Amino acid sequence: MTKFSRDFLWGSASAAYQVEGAWDEDGKSLSIWDVFVRQPNRTFKNTTGDVAVDHYHHYKEDVKLMAEMGLKAYRFSIAWTRILPEGRGEVNQKGIEFYSNLIDELLKYNIEPIITIYHWDLPQVLQDEYGGWESRKIIDDFLYYAEVLFENFGDRVKYWIGLNEQNVFVGLGYRDGRFPPGIKNIQLMHQVNHIVNLANATIIKRFHDLKIKGQIGPSFAFPVLYALDNQPENVLAMEKSLDVNVWYWMDAYLLGRYPRTALAYLKNQFGIELDIREGDLDILKAGRPDFVGVNYYQSHTFAANVPNAEAGEPDQFKHVQNEHLERTSWGWEIDPIGLRIALRRITSRYDIPIMITENGLGEYDTLTEDRKIHDPYRIEYLDNHITAVQNAIEDGCQVIGYCTWSFTDLLSWLNGYGKRYGFVYVDRDEEEGGSLERIRKDSFYWYQKLIKEFESKRENSRTHS
Ligand code: BG6
Repeated sequence: MTKFSRDFLWGSASAAYQVEGAWDEDGKSLSIWDVFVRQPNRTFKNTTGDVAVDHYHHYKEDVKLMAEMGLKAYRFSIAWTRILPEGRGEVNQKGIEFYSNLIDELLKYNIEPIITIYHWDLPQVLQDEYGGWESRKIIDDFLYYAEVLFENFGDRVKYWIGLNEQNVFVGLGYRDGRFPPGIKNIQLMHQVNHIVNLANATIIKRFHDLKIKGQIGPSFAFPVLYALDNQPENVLAMEKSLDVNVWYWMDAYLLGRYPRTALAYLKNQFGIELDIREGDLDILKAGRPDFVGVNYYQSHTFAANVPNAEAGEPDQFKHVQNEHLERTSWGWEIDPIGLRIALRRITSRYDIPIMITENGLGEYDTLTEDRKIHDPYRIEYLDNHITAVQNAIEDGCQVIGYCTWSFTDLLSWLNGYGKRYGFVYVDRDEEEGGSLERIRKDSFYWYQKLIKEFESKRENSRTHS
């Protein structure tokens, strides 16, 4: 534990759509998710975030539980649709008020607020008007939205995440069609992605120009990739995937350019040429983040693929199982060492501080008759991943914080309420019934103890130094 810095942010995280509910209250407009989940069979049992776990009305109770746990930081996202119902223009004071109260409530208990500016819930009006992220018009609107947040909360919030998992919302939204806007068009996906990169860099630059006392960076779903074995064809396949699935995003954030090999791959494989205009790369370079957020759940293994393959990239690479790892009930491979590898890879390529902005285990939990939740599997998962973080720090990585996913149970975008991640159980069933009662799981007490031990070691080392 002594490896962690004195002000290490022991945190936990959530996202507006997954916890808040109150989908049409106090002036909030529709987001693309509010609309998407109303299309039949888009989500598990057609679940929606209309009520979610009703954090909008329970936030004081939730923050009190965080304080009881001893949490040092809470990462949450802001719903653009609450702040700017028209996507831009007039600010909805009720929206500002909600987040302002949440921030004050956190600070009252010395919990550091970490704001995610965009966790996927784009105002539907912007999608309708110009295709949302498909148009460069979004850059100005996103900047304006971010400025409103900086202006209202910049006095109290030191840590900012611009975008959550750009690779996921762009990939699932435009290549796989499983997220809104539900499009399957890889050419469009990459053009959209470039625009998102420009928007990300633009708000980072403005944050720096405004000299806000704080730090800003994106959160990336960092895929740790392995080759199936040491057969050179498999190693090459993994390298190709690494270029196009990892460095393609990370280099844009941190080096202000795209890897040549990734651009060549996109051209050769799909005939894609990015619409990079004069000045674009300067914009990317001018918006270097202060830290990078890493969301990590699992690693992925790759092997060479045959031409005409139906799965994976024909003739290039395909995803295969790793036989050395156990899997969750949703088939996610559990790999704490993978997290250490992720942190090492980022450090060695970019030399930048890292915040782990999400890490956790989604599992079914059982409420016992005496209203307890015994979740040793979650404790084991988190404990092993924290050890991996500690090892990475010993390896030389600068890790400034660790946020579990999630604090309370919440709505899993496509998997409903059965896949639970929280320290706090919320009585909410798969048919969207339940009392919304909050119940502490065993893992709640475990994390509480871990933070307490960290604190007392820190105090001891202070007295002895
Ligand atoms: C991350 C997202 O991709 O993974 C979270 O940032 C999400 O919002 C989490 O909930 C877990 O994914 P899932 O599909 O298990 O809910």
